[in-house]
Order: sequence, then structure tokens, then C-alpha cells
Amino acid sequence: MKNVGFVGWRGMVGSVLMQRMIEERDFDAIRPVFFSTSQHGQAAPSFTGQSGTLQDAYDLDALSALDIIITCQGGDYTNEIYPKLREIGWSGYWIDAASSLRMEDDAIIILDPVNSAVIYQGIDKGIKTFVGGNCTVSLMLMSLGGLFANDLIEWASVATYQAASGGGARHMRELLTQMGMLHNSVAKELENPASAILDIERKVTALTRSGTLPTDNFGVPLAGGLIPWIDKQLDNGQTKEEWKGQAETNKILGTSSIIPVDGLCVRIGALRCHSQAFTLKLKKDVSIPEIEQMLASHNDWVRVIPNDRELSMRELTPAAVTGTMNTPVGRLRKLNMGPQYLSAFTVGDQLLWGAAEPLRRMLRILL
Ligand code: HSE
Repeated sequence: MKNVGFVGWRGMVGSVLMQRMIEERDFDAIRPVFFSTSQHGQAAPSFTGQSGTLQDAYDLDALSALDIIITCQGGDYTNEIYPKLREIGWSGYWIDAASSLRMEDDAIIILDPVNSAVIYQGIDKGIKTFVGGNCTVSLMLMSLGGLFANDLIEWASVATYQAASGGGARHMRELLTQMGMLHNSVAKELENPASAILDIERKVTALTRSGTLPTDNFGVPLAGGLIPWIDKQLDNGQTKEEWKGQAETNKILGTSSIIPVDGLCVRIGALRCHSQAFTLKLKKDVSIPEIEQMLASHNDWVRVIPNDRELSMRELTPAAVTGTMNTPVGRLRKLNMGPQYLSAFTVGDQLLWGAAEPLRRMLRILL
């Protein structure tokens, strides 16, 4: 059995990873060692059915005794520990949720339903570093994988609707607190059906602009609105999140010529599901039934939702998809621009396929 170390298992992505590993009985197949950056010496979690003590996440000797390390601890930890481990000659497998190492030549971005060939070739070549992709990219590829696999996409333009969880646990709390404060400020008026809605709106807008809503994490109010910017500003006008779309998609797929992917990334008030609206230029005119067939047969989690009002409203929403492994795609239709222009709308749980699940599956591949 392989010795597998877990760092950052208590955070949000780490907790979802633990939950999935329990559900899939992954702990039966490994000897887990749990690490902590602050509480080493205390008892390790008991959900694995094995007992132990939390190890120090900065102890290079303890870490280098492992066959595999999985970290959801974040980029700062990776930047500090990973180079030191490699420097002292540790040659185990490093599986990482953080973005720091994603674009390194000796790292593979993991999303095995989409790029298992790239992953297995990498393992054969001796690659030891495997990194989860950006959530919007991974969720796009889970939903639209059939079109990429059939080499049908000339380019993709996207507008995202990204959930608070992409920012982190504190962002989710902040969003809900903002929502609660806005509601509380007009709760009485809402109970009275005779009250004027524009008076209610004015109160909500005034509170939104008052500077009293908590905004430490998002920087500005999000509840009842949106933020058309995610992550750092780059010199070319893109956000870092928008830059990742093309860079990571092409790296995951191992394309020989770049498929252009670009668009606008927007934060909305969903909790943990990212949605994305695509305009796709296809390399040739393919009928909608053929497109639906390619999409549906690509992997076990994609669901093609017919372009129907009722079904789209019921099944193609964060409310329907949150907490599930499904990665539905719908609103498929040819656009007025011509028969090679296709619209598509995707939804996926940002913490499952967008973060934890590819790591868990990579571990399974290595066992
Ligand atoms: N950068 C993403 C977001 C997180 O902010 O939504 C997932 O990689």
C-alpha cells in the first residue's frame, strides 16, 4: 500500500475531497498520513478507520517519506515546500489543487475524463507533478469535451457566471451576510403586500452603496449584483482568470496548434456552481443531433439538456446542479451568425469537478 500524505484536508476543497474519498472508499486502498500547518501532534481524523497523529506540514523528513502527497493547502504552501522537497531529492508524486505549478513544463494539469492520454503519457515519461485545473476550464471541458475530442472547435468565446466559492470559504460567508443584511433592511416592508416595491429597492440600493455591507473579501458588494472582474489584472486587459481559459485548455488537451479561448469572467451571487455561456465557432457545420450525441457520449457525468424552456429552467441551473457530479450542457442552438456558430450553456459544481474530484481520481490512477 502506498503512503499518502494529505495537507490542507480541513479547508473547503480539502473537506470536499475527504467527503468524496470516504464515499468512494479510497482510504481502504492507501495508508493515509495527515499533516497540519498548525496543529501537529494532535489526533489525526478518524474517518479513515485508521488512527494516527497529525504530522507537521513543514517537516521535510516526514513529507519525503511519502509516496504521494496531496495538497489543498494553497499556493503559498506549495511555493514554500515543493521546491525544497524536490531539492532534497524527493521523487514522489505531488498532487496539488493550487495553481502555482500548473503551467510548469514538468507538471500536468489533471482532468482524466478529458486528458487521460496526456496523463498516462506523462506518467510513462516520469512526470511526478499533477495539478488540478482552473475550475471554469475543467468544468467547460467536462461539459463540452465531446466537441473538443472531435476536433470541432475553431474557437470559443465565453461569459462566465462564477460562484462565490471560487474565491474561498470566506467569500461565501460574506455573500450570505450581505444577502441577509439587505433582506433584513426591508423585511417588514416585504411582509406587507401593499408596500411599494420601488421604495424597497431604494432602501436596498442605499444600503448597498452605504459602505456598511462587509466587503473585505470581494472588495465591493456582490449580493443582488455582480462583479465583472475575477483575479489579477494583466497588461493586455485580460483578467488572470480570463487568461487561464486558453492557456490551461490547450495545456490540458495537449493541442499542437492553439485553440483560441477568450471571454469575460464575472462573479455572481451563486454559492458553489459556476455557469458559463459559450459562443463556439465550429470547424464545420454539424447538425444539432450529432452535436448532442458527441457531447452526451464523451463522459459519464455530462448531461445534454434539450433546448427547452422547462428543462433548461429545471436542470441547467446552480440550484439543480450544486452538490452533484453532473456537468450539464444545454441551450444548444445554431446562432444567427451562421451554421458553424453554436451557443451552449454549462453548469458545474466548482468544488467537485472544479477542484476536488480530479485530485481524487489522480490518486486512484497512481495506486
Ligand atoms: N479562480 C476561480 C474562481 C477558482 O475565482 O472562481 C477556481 O479555480
